[in-house]
Amino acid sequence: MKAKSPSQSRTVMTDLVLPSETNPLNNLFGGELLARMDRAASISARRHSRRITVTASVNHVAFNHSIPLGSVVTVEASVSRAFRSSMEIFIDVWIEDRFSGEKTKANEAIYTFVAVDETGKPTEVPPIVPETELEQARYDAALRRKQLSLVLAGKMKPEDATELKALFTD
Ligand SMILES: CC(C)(COP(=O)(O)OP(=O)(O)OC[C@H]1O[C@@H](n2cnc3c(N)ncnc32)[C@H](O)[C@@H]1OP(=O)(O)O)[C@@H](O)C(=O)NCCC(=O)NCCS
Repeated sequence: MKAKSPSQSRTVMTDLVLPSETNPLNNLFGGELLARMDRAASISARRHSRRITVTASVNHVAFNHSIPLGSVVTVEASVSRAFRSSMEIFIDVWIEDRFSGEKTKANEAIYTFVAVDETGKPTEVPPIVPETELEQARYDAALRRKQLSLVLAGKMKPEDATELKALFTD
């Protein structure tokens, strides 16, 4: 299968924060942001694989900054690494200053999607070739994140997570 770059799956979704999407502090409700990130990640996984894709795992979410009512929020997703049937998707969330238009990073997340056939069976996806320094760094760390996710899900024995173990022993 022909390799693809992360930019080929880049997906950018921009939307407002409306009153029905906020918590009692008038900031964006966390579950609403998770859903927006899931949508962008799903499109990104589809663009990379050109298959049906499903969310297998939310590996990491950091709600570092609250996002106030009325904000313009941009969710940017791209595939950081592809394995056999699974893809790690990196998601950056930006908010735009109302007056200057300057964008500030608000949150980030890492999701895993799996490409499946019409019967739901996992199916192969193209590999990823990183092009920038950031893409390379995300690519390099993706295998240990996959192993951590599999260990936490009870799908891999900790002793088999060699890449993850190397983090603590090297
Ligand atoms: C995701 C799903 C297809 C995986 O099926 P499975 O029977 O575990 O299949 P496999 O064991 O062959 O795993 C398929 C791939 O997913 C990866 N995977 C499975 N669970 C994972 C997890 N928790 N974290 C990271 N990767 C995971 C496997 O490592 C494998 O990757 P690879 O082929 O690239 O090496 C299956 O669990 C599923 O359909 N889940 C429901 C998905 C869904 O409905 N999501 C929406 C939530 S409502």
